Amino acid sequence: MYNNFALLYDELMDDVDYKNWHLYIEKTFDKFNKKPKTVLEMACGTGNLSYYLAKRGYDLTCFDISSEMLSIAYNKINSFKNVKLLNQNMIDFNLNKKFDAIISACDSINYIIDKDDLLNVFKNVKDHLNKDGIFIFDINSYYKLKHIIGNNTFVEDRDKIYYIWQNYFNSSNNIVEFYLTFFVANENKNYIRFDEEHFQKAYYIDEIIELLKIASFSEIHCFDAFTFNSLREESERIYFVALD
Ligand SMILES: C[S@@+](CC[C@H](N)C(=O)[O-])C[C@H]1O[C@@H](n2cnc3c(N)ncnc32)[C@H](O)[C@@H]1O
Repeated sequence: MYNNFALLYDELMDDVDYKNWHLYIEKTFDKFNKKPKTVLEMACGTGNLSYYLAKRGYDLTCFDISSEMLSIAYNKINSFKNVKLLNQNMIDFNLNKKFDAIISACDSINYIIDKDDLLNVFKNVKDHLNKDGIFIFDINSYYKLKHIIGNNTFVEDRDKIYYIWQNYFNSSNNIVEFYLTFFVANENKNYIRFDEEHFQKAYYIDEIIELLKIASFSEIHCFDAFTFNSLREESERIYFVALD
């Protein structure tokens, strides 16, 4: 669960090009001949992608489960009249509105670690899509979680933040446990420590496709992220496009 990490998220994600990320989402709309007016972004986090989508003028609804992440997002997108920001859970959201497109970015779907819950997410998305709507999301691949992130430790020493990210891949359930320890310098140059635990599930592509089919999506496509190429064995981020 994102708590204090929310305050550091944007700084630690400063190498992620959200401007290009939003262009890829729009290219995907074009590829499938969609011209959405209403867009729902699930698990919007601190609103980095939401900001670019808001600028493009969509009637945008964004939600996240973490109020800490949402409060950062609020500062970024509050001034846009075309955006609504909500605190909701992907598993059981009910917005009483349908959308032309529903998206979720940056492996938020891997945070749904129970398969039945993921099916509920997909069914919920289907119920919130207009006829001929499009659902676009990405996941961290099984390969990336097992072989790059899992059972590995990352350390980063930045100007005011020092963090250690220790990961364990549990082969019995394919869940990766992330243990994050942050040391953040305050104005007196004293370091304050806080810890967070996150869990992501490494899904096989076929598992996701099966769940999307059970949720009644009629057409499903997978791409190596930020391209429209087919998947490679070592694809790290996988894009799914599911059509109503
Ligand atoms: C890696 S961050 C990605 C945030 C944002 N999409 C981005 O591109 O920067 C994952 C996000 O998923 C959110 N999240 C995890 N489980 C969720 C759930 N069940 N419902 C809604 N949001 C969830 C977290 O709070 C976090 O903001």
